Amino acid sequence: MSRLTLDRSLPVAGDPSVVAVAHPDHLLRIHDPDALLVRWPRPVPGALCAWLDALPAASLPDVRVKVPLGAVEAAVEAAFAARGVAASPERHMLVADILLLAMLFSHVERTEWLAIRLEAIDHDACRRPHVDHVSTRLLCTYRGSGTEFGRVAGRVWQADLELARFEVGLVKGLLHPSLRDAAACRLAHRSPGFTAGDPSRLLVAIDRADAPSAAAYH
Ligand SMILES: [Fe+2]
Repeated sequence: MSRLTLDRSLPVAGDPSVVAVAHPDHLLRIHDPDALLVRWPRPVPGALCAWLDALPAASLPDVRVKVPLGAVEAAVEAAFAARGVAASPERHMLVADILLLAMLFSHVERTEWLAIRLEAIDHDACRRPHVDHVSTRLLCTYRGSGTEFGRVAGRVWQADLELARFEVGLVKGLLHPSLRDAAACRLAHRSPGFTAGDPSRLLVAIDRADAPSAAAYH
């Protein structure tokens, strides 16, 4: 399969379903009836990227937890500690960023309980275009290529855009009240391709968690 050429322009020209915002307060626009994706591009912090890029794959955290907002920071700190990553200014910056995203998502979804997936990915992951069975999902890739968005026309994948590193994508899923069925969702997404030898990706995905359980989930 030939590699897709992706349009990285902001936003997708003439498409009201993709909203680019300059301030996180506007992530709430995901609840607009026409919105399917709100993207918040952010400056890439060079020092943090360099630190992330230098981490061995075995040191990348890989954890799924359901926790209340107040327990997110401790859970992420524990995930790094479990991989033997010593406390440092860069680790603190990354944990603080994940906590910020958790706070923003909690506000968007008006929920205290969150499902946090901080995943080290060294394979194709979810390569098939799909729409998630969630209300909304927040995605941010800290290392490696970002999530791809596009349309499926017939059986052909038409790529529209790829989220950039550190860019926040807030995606509307099939359980959102404004999205009644799959046919109404014209925008699908998939994981970027992964070739043997590529550095492992690091992705954070945040969903609402309705079950008040602090147990790990799968
Ligand atoms: Fe997905």
